[in-house]
Amino acid sequence: TAVALSHALKPYAEGGRPSCFMQPVGAGHDEPIRRGLAAHYAQHQAPSPPPPADADPALLELGARLAESGDRATGVPACSGCHGEDRDPRYPRLDGQHASYIADQLRLWQKDAHGDTPLSRIMAAAVRNLTEEQIRALSLHYALSRPRETADAEGER
Ligand code: HEC
Repeated sequence: TAVALSHALKPYAEGGRPSCFMQPVGAGHDEPIRRGLAAHYAQHQAPSPPPPADADPALLELGARLAESGDRATGVPACSGCHGEDRDPRYPRLDGQHASYIADQLRLWQKDAHGDTPLSRIMAAAVRNLTEEQIRALSLHYALSRPRETADAEGER
């Protein structure tokens, strides 16, 4: 959502989120410009491509289960408790994001290398105990989930 993107850009502008190539984009932009950019990208984010025919069904199933209910044994919370329709708008939507992007973000949080903001600390705690297989499962699951608006628009055609 635009709110989530605007929040995500803020630490770059304030220098709190280390990223060599995002710095010039976020830095120097003042609040209205950042909001404008965020709104623009929230509207124009392209939905992910259709599922590859060879997507591993077992991995997909694991991803769907983790997203919905987490993994109690290892203390992984249900992602859907924060991410999804009708949640806090500061929590970004994951449906249709690219799998490699999602996986990279999760690995950064596991290494505590995702910047030190209050929102970022929420995620660091959420994904601390994910295994590499669970990361791949979750990334695949969300990459292949269609945002509801996109699915609706397609249904109307
Ligand atoms: C307690 C709430 C909460 C839970 C549970 C949670 N997240 Fe998050 N997530 C957040 C917040 C807040 C952010 C934004 C962090 C930031 O801006 O630094 C975020 C950001 C993300 C991002 C980055 C998205 C982007 O657009 O850059 C990914 C990927 C993600 N979460 C995946 C997950 C997965 C997978 C799970 C389940 C294992 C999960 N999250 C569980 C709150 C949560």
